[in-house]
Amino acid sequence: MYQLEIAGGHPLRGELPVQGAKNSVLPILTAVLLAPGESVIHNCPDLSDVAATLEILRGLGCSVRREGDTVTVDAAGLTGASVSRQLMEEMRSSVLFLGALLGRLGQAELSYPGGCQLGPRPIDLHLAALRSLGAEIREEQGLLMADVGTGLRGRTVCLPTPSVGATENVMLAACGARGVTTLVGAAREPEIVDLQGLLNRMGGEVRGAGGSVIQIRGGRPLHPTEYTVMSDRIAAATYLCAAAAAGGAIRLTAVEPGSLTAVLSCLEEGGCRIRTGRQRIDLVCRRPFGGLRTVRTAPYPGFPTDAQPLLMAALAAGQGTTMIEENLFDNRYRHVDELARMGADIRLSGRVAVVTGQPLHAAPVCSTDLRGGAALAVAALAAEGTSRIGGLGYIQRGYQNLQGDLSRLGAEVRLVEEAPELLRKGQERTYGVGTKKPKTEAETQPAQRAV
Ligand code: UD1
Repeated sequence: MYQLEIAGGHPLRGELPVQGAKNSVLPILTAVLLAPGESVIHNCPDLSDVAATLEILRGLGCSVRREGDTVTVDAAGLTGASVSRQLMEEMRSSVLFLGALLGRLGQAELSYPGGCQLGPRPIDLHLAALRSLGAEIREEQGLLMADVGTGLRGRTVCLPTPSVGATENVMLAACGARGVTTLVGAAREPEIVDLQGLLNRMGGEVRGAGGSVIQIRGGRPLHPTEYTVMSDRIAAATYLCAAAAAGGAIRLTAVEPGSLTAVLSCLEEGGCRIRTGRQRIDLVCRRPFGGLRTVRTAPYPGFPTDAQPLLMAALAAGQGTTMIEENLFDNRYRHVDELARMGADIRLSGRVAVVTGQPLHAAPVCSTDLRGGAALAVAALAAEGTSRIGGLGYIQRGYQNLQGDLSRLGAEVRLVEEAPELLRKGQERTYGVGTKKPKTEAETQPAQRAV
């Protein structure tokens, strides 16, 4: 069991290339099974969710290899249409295998997906959309059994909520449907545009991603391809919030500033100076951060729910009072109790949090989910003294090397081994979540991560 030990109170400095996007690489690695043959995907971050996706691909008969940040998947040997419950429960995005398998093989058998506990995360929109394309999906004892009978047929599908996963599932299945699918009410996230880029590179005909109507002409033969995954905007937001919390001057490279507009405008409003260039963001923060107008999470291009805990940590360590409204997930304030251990003043009422910035102090804390865990690191960088963060298994789902990246920015951070008897009472479960020894900086060469 490892923990992250962070000595706070030191401003951050330096330059950091941002890893490939978790929320892009997962649908992209799922989509490659639509094309028989060997696809080569670059800029794949080394995350536990990526490892689980590759395990699913292997289980389905694909051959998979990773060299540095490049993953090669040969989907010619795809035979299976069934994914084990254990692998399905590793992450939320496993549900995308439903659309991809229906698109390629016309059948799929899997269970409900797992993922961070952010409140109820139903898949009703996925199922309704796939059914409207002609899939027959039966649910028996937690298993989903799906097949397409005489085939999927393109048609107009309306999503009542712009669900990212449901949008991706429809895009994947519709590639295997006869005729044109028009998806109305689609999610507009940059990761959807990235998936469209891959599908078109494979010979698909997908238009409109980034807007709320996406058209997919199905039935075209897809071929394997080579593709580079976009940069991770939430990892970028993490380091920007860290510098807002701890102060300092950092430069992020291999980053898309245009995908971070809502986050950058909050950081500027709170007192950071931001300059952007091609694949570059410079942030300077020389005074306590905070005092924003109400921040409301919303589907893209609104403020991302995934960045809410990160911004909250920076606000808690800063100054002034800011109200946050979480509109995507019911249970996305689990990190608040842990931030309170560091002295944070955060009052919760339903979906609203009122954060009053003040100096934080070090404490032993534990991740409650992926971004909640990263938020604790942001707070610890600003806190007086040395904090320890447990539950690194959550953090490894989305950060290739958080410790190495923060070290590159001059933070005093190291991995320490924790004796089980010292675990804080009541937190044994979270400390144990699939925690492998995180990578040292030498094990993750920055050169491998450049786009
Ligand atoms: C994706 C991201 C996640 C991010 C979220 C919102 C990946 C792997 N994960 O998750 O990091 O926090 O988008 O930006 O890309 N909903 C339903 N029924 C459904 C599907 C969704 O009610 O069938 C609701 C959800 O409960 C939630 C909202 O729609 O309130 C948005 O969820 P969705 O966009 O689907 O999130 P994910 O794709 O799971």
